[in-house]
Amino acid sequence: MQDPMNTKPDLTGVAALLPGALRPRGLVVLTGAGMSAESGIATFRDAQSGLWARFDPMQLASEEGFREDPQRVWDWYAERREGVRRAEPNAGHVALADFDRRHPGVLTVVTQNVDDLHQRAGVAETIRLHGDILRDKWLEPCPRGLGCDPATAVPGRPPRCADCGHLVRPGVVWFGEALPPQAFALAEEAVRRCRLLLVVGTSGAVWPAAGLAALARRAGAMVVIINPADSEIDADANHVLRGTAATLLPALLGAI
Ligand code: APR
Repeated sequence: MQDPMNTKPDLTGVAALLPGALRPRGLVVLTGAGMSAESGIATFRDAQSGLWARFDPMQLASEEGFREDPQRVWDWYAERREGVRRAEPNAGHVALADFDRRHPGVLTVVTQNVDDLHQRAGVAETIRLHGDILRDKWLEPCPRGLGCDPATAVPGRPPRCADCGHLVRPGVVWFGEALPPQAFALAEEAVRRCRLLLVVGTSGAVWPAAGLAALARRAGAMVVIINPADSEIDADANHVLRGTAATLLPALLGAI
């Protein structure tokens, strides 16, 4: 009985799709927290180990939560930043970067992740949908005018502007906030243009990023999900490969 979700295509069946993607911007890889799980960075919704199983996202990943207790939120991100700095790109990140070096101009990585592991592995074109945990920005525009650098703020938990006392916040997208418009427009353009979209390590629980797989499908791309567990967007995929990023990406990309 053919598996209705075709969740058991052999790797070769999916690898056979790759040559057709070897064209400018022919391959897009949309990544989520599962991409960095094997680098030791916690995901958000995995039942036992996910951050949202242990912390309240509205208290820690929202502007309201930050205004309510800036130090609590600042300290939480500081701890996560340290984890990112200690982490290393895993074999999945390296496989993407090696593919990128062998086939310049073919790969675009669109990531929901706020770590810098794709960049440290060496992927040339990465679109960050949810910002960068290693960067800061002003909570409100600093009245000292454009171009003020949060790095010059008075150190603290969180740092404050020396002149007006405005707070510095982490440069990530919080719940209830819009994605950086340009980043999302570039991501939509990339998935509309590609021949093959690999969706790696995302639960598909957070929109609008979760809508990119269906958008790619409608535009005629083949969509393959790589995830050890079910996701909310499995139905948008042509194929679902049950496995991890650090195992399946090297197996899929290593030979082309
Ligand atoms: N390889 C591949 N996938 C994995 C691995 C792994 N080693 N380990 C876990 N996964 C999968 C899980 O099965 C799950 O489907 O990664 C997914 C992680 O899902 P989430 O924790 O929901 O992370 P993500 O989808 O990136 O969340 C999206 O939600 O909280 C916000 O801003 C946050 O960017 C995040 C967004």
